[in-house]
Amino acid sequence: MDENTKICISIASHPGKFGLRFHNEGYKLLGLNHLYIPLGILQKDLGSLVNIIRNNFHGCSISMPHKIEAIKYLDQLDYSAKNTGSVNTILSLENGRILRGYNTDYYGTIKAISGRIGAIDKRKVLMIGAGGVARAIGRAIVDLNGDLYITNRTKEVGVALAEELKCQYFPWNNRSSFSGYLLINATSIGMNESGDSPINLNSLNNYGAVMDVIASGETSIIKRARELRMPFIQGKTMAVYQAEKQFEIYTGQKLPEKFVEGFLK
Ligand SMILES: NC(=O)c1ccc[n+]([C@@H]2O[C@H](COP(=O)([O-])OP(=O)(O)OC[C@H]3O[C@@H](n4cnc5c(N)ncnc54)[C@H](OP(=O)(O)O)[C@@H]3O)[C@@H](O)[C@H]2O)c1
Repeated sequence: MDENTKICISIASHPGKFGLRFHNEGYKLLGLNHLYIPLGILQKDLGSLVNIIRNNFHGCSISMPHKIEAIKYLDQLDYSAKNTGSVNTILSLENGRILRGYNTDYYGTIKAISGRIGAIDKRKVLMIGAGGVARAIGRAIVDLNGDLYITNRTKEVGVALAEELKCQYFPWNNRSSFSGYLLINATSIGMNESGDSPINLNSLNNYGAVMDVIASGETSIIKRARELRMPFIQGKTMAVYQAEKQFEIYTGQKLPEKFVEGFLK
């Protein structure tokens, strides 16, 4: 590390090791004078935190619950941030004069679906959940011309996101009877291999492919998809692809596909 090192931080209440490894190993591979430092911060005053980023760091990854509020402190938003209404990546430009926000969950979703499932043009997609990550996934589905339906435990939240994305809300209590091409779990149900599922697992027979946002272990939805030999996308895949895009934003350089795929094993 020297005075020219570009430092990127991540702000999370419980920072994991994935970002630390992915970014720093990528910098090393490409010979870049960058450093990535995950910080465990429970920051109440987001405004002053954003100023610290502006004056001291090259970039910053943001986790919930700050993804939506952070927008108001930024100077520019790229397409993904503007159209999801949330940011998970901030890049400092012109010595901190401009802070630009991005949502790399959006780009990670586009890459995962295009590469692992293929075209979803006009095909029915049911997304369960309408929280932070659902905003990015929903926008990606709409941009891929999928025929999106949203269902959510709290109806008002689901209806509001459906209105924003100009798609349909599907009643929560009927969710296991929906039939379409792609099923997406965008809720936090199924974390840490709990075995919980947001939908009756027999309803996977109504779909051609599934996606799950949970990155901590294999969920019961993914296990059933494996049994049914259906194409699937695990949360880990989305997490790796969003980190790949984040790396590109921080460095302006692309990582070799072999390096990226190595993190999926
Ligand atoms: N793989 C990746 O790259 C990636 C990226 C970001 C996030 N994630 C994961 O995605 C998950 C969701 O994150 P988020 O930021 O969207 O969280 P969030 O904003 O808190 O939203 C949570 C969603 O889950 C629903 N939910 C939670 N508990 C539920 C329950 N017991 N029954 C029914 N619905 C329930 C919520 O419904 P209500 O509206 O009714 O509360 C809401 O739709 C987390 O596990 C997170 O780790 C993964």
